[in-house]
Amino acid sequence: MEKLTLANGIGIPCMGFGCYNAYDDVITSAVQMALEAGYRYIDSAEFYKNEAAVGAGLASYAGDREELFVLSKIWPSSFDDVAAAFGRTSKDLQTEYLDSYIIHWPGTDEKRRLSAYEQLLGLAEKGLVRAPGVSNFSIPQLEKIREEFGTYPFVHEIECHPSYQQRALIDWCRERKIQVISYEPLNRTKDLALPAVEMLAEKYGKSPAQIVLRWYVQHDQIPIPKSGNRERIRENIALFDFELSEDDMEAIDALETGVKDGQDAAKFPAGY
Ligand SMILES: NC(=O)c1ccc[n+]([C@@H]2O[C@H](COP(=O)([O-])OP(=O)(O)OC[C@H]3O[C@@H](n4cnc5c(N)ncnc54)[C@H](OP(=O)(O)O)[C@@H]3O)[C@@H](O)[C@H]2O)c1
Repeated sequence: MEKLTLANGIGIPCMGFGCYNAYDDVITSAVQMALEAGYRYIDSAEFYKNEAAVGAGLASYAGDREELFVLSKIWPSSFDDVAAAFGRTSKDLQTEYLDSYIIHWPGTDEKRRLSAYEQLLGLAEKGLVRAPGVSNFSIPQLEKIREEFGTYPFVHEIECHPSYQQRALIDWCRERKIQVISYEPLNRTKDLALPAVEMLAEKYGKSPAQIVLRWYVQHDQIPIPKSGNRERIRENIALFDFELSEDDMEAIDALETGVKDGQDAAKFPAGY
């Protein structure tokens, strides 16, 4: 698996495996199947309420821990005690350190958000987190992190798919060496039925999912598709034997509609 390099020199696989919305044995075996298929970046979160089952899947990996990139997320309800959240997550995932640990949503309370980020930097200083990051932040919120702490987060995980590309934010992050990770990369399957995607699938003899996921890889935008199905887990990583032409990359770039699937970060989650 090809890697991209974060601003602090750490390598991150160019695609990952999402762990949202699957539980117990289903996610344990999905993680095992993903590792067997060649995924090395596992995208987890305490909020998903499945980290012990994800950890059981990770524990099955026969190779060295250093070969894996394990990311988890801090929910705003844990902003006042990030060390405690880290303790629960690291125990459940059966790992002493996280390759990346990120603020899941900014919440609406700037003081608590900044305090959480400061605590996260403390974990990084202790060697427990290799690359602190964030998710669902706006540009002013990213700027505030740099103003307060002197550096930008190393990764920014955001909703991104052909029909909602966040191009301006991604270009802004790229200029500042903040690595973008694209969540809901299949738009929870909705973007797979777009006629342009189906046409390209036909042209390249690939599945619609492979066309869409290859588009992120060529844009260096790390997709993290989730699947609980062995065939689709394998299909989604079989992206490295073909290349989309420049014109076909542009054809997918042109699918932007501005319609987002997920929550509005200015209001979500309520109460934080
Ligand atoms: N930071 C955040 O706030 C945030 C928010 C949302 C998600 N995420 C992360 O992003 C990951 C991915 O997002 P997501 O799981 O919401 O959506 P997604 O990956 O866009 O879509 C997942 C859906 O696509 C189906 N699927 C997967 N591969 C397929 C294929 N080749 N052909 C047809 N259908 C396919 C899956 O069904 P099967 O399982 O049946 O294959 C599942 O229903 C999450 O798991 C999570 O790790 C982060």
